[in-house]
Amino acid sequence: MRTPGVDRRTLLAAALVAPITARFDSAHATGSDLRAAPVPRRSPSLAQAAKARGLYFGAAVRMDQITDEPSLRSAVLRDCAALTPEIHLKWNSLEWRRGEFNFSPVDQLLDFAEAHALHVRGHTLIWERSTPDWARADIMKRRDWTLVSNHFERVLGRYAGRVAEWDVVNEPIDTQTGAQGLRRTVFQQAFGATYIERALEEARSNAPHARLLINDYGFDYDNPVDGDRRSALLALVRRVRRAGAPLDGVGLQAHLDLDKGPLAASALAGFLQALADEGLSLTVTELDVKEADVRAPLAVRDQRVADEARRYLDIALAQPAMRGVVTWGLTDRHSWLSQGDGDGRLNAGPARNPTNRGLPYDAALAPKPMYWAMTEALTSASPLTASARARAAVSA
Ligand code: G3I
Repeated sequence: MRTPGVDRRTLLAAALVAPITARFDSAHATGSDLRAAPVPRRSPSLAQAAKARGLYFGAAVRMDQITDEPSLRSAVLRDCAALTPEIHLKWNSLEWRRGEFNFSPVDQLLDFAEAHALHVRGHTLIWERSTPDWARADIMKRRDWTLVSNHFERVLGRYAGRVAEWDVVNEPIDTQTGAQGLRRTVFQQAFGATYIERALEEARSNAPHARLLINDYGFDYDNPVDGDRRSALLALVRRVRRAGAPLDGVGLQAHLDLDKGPLAASALAGFLQALADEGLSLTVTELDVKEADVRAPLAVRDQRVADEARRYLDIALAQPAMRGVVTWGLTDRHSWLSQGDGDGRLNAGPARNPTNRGLPYDAALAPKPMYWAMTEALTSASPLTASARARAAVSA
């Protein structure tokens, strides 16, 4: 396992933040919803820092958590201009059993967002992993596109006017076990590789004014798998654009991983430019950092996470077609990396005892070095207006 190097500056910075992070981490052991540590007055929120550069900042959230936890609600309202429902809009959340619909968490989230002038990202219409079993079985059995079109019509018909941007197809790339770079999903098997173009057309006809995206992960590091994934996504978006399908942007999940070696700085920048050259807008949609060494002192761990997020954002935000940054959660308390949906690397501890520290706030809602690193990265991004960013994405 790689242990990222720690220089003197990092250790010094880590020593400075140690008392705060240690205090809040142990406080979390009580399980109470403690008041968030105050963020210094002079510091802009993440939303403000992003907005000053023509960008937006947001986070993935769950409505039940916002309702139950006042400190999370405050942090969301302070730092976010956009929210992504972490789970509620997925097909298996909306329709776990065929014909039985659960729209209420999405409705509540939209009401909350609109009451506070926040945007909501639509995540996601098609994702193999969130397709309910009954739909997967039926798609394979009947190969009938109406199953997909009914789902799109129902969801977009209800929300299209309130959600300006959709991850239409999530995680279509698989260069290791896929077919010509595409994941072998039930959609790909039943309808062929062009299910992606078809899904985009379907989304456009139900949401004429929305921005339509393909969203995927694994483009970030300097290794052959990520290199192949960058090439495969580029080939896919070129194919889709040549076919005239309505693709407006790409979502870069950016689930960073300290075990994967250095970021592929120049290859990543070149990849983002190649996507922008296709006329696409770009969004970092699911940023977080998976730790590699959880036995190091807390402050050292936090600094490693912060440095990785900063390195990534410095590359991503240098691209004029970039529109915004969304983290996959705000606090380590609710990170998927802490709760057993990851690969199990960090889930040796007791249930609900968060161990991965890869989000801007710790489990007690105290801002961590990643928060400040993100603020700095946003503040140092080149100050393009939102309209200049939009023009950059369509100037190809
Ligand atoms: O709420 C139920 C609970 O009642 C039940 O006891 C428990 C038992 O498994 O499951 C709970 O639901 C889980 C849910 O998260 C809430 O914690 C689901 O099993 C679990 O599959 C679900 O995982 C989500 C996953 O997507 C699948 O939808 C993660 O929270 C969410 O962070 C993750 O997000 C994905 C993005 O959509 C796409 N990119 C990768 C990212 C991380 O996997």
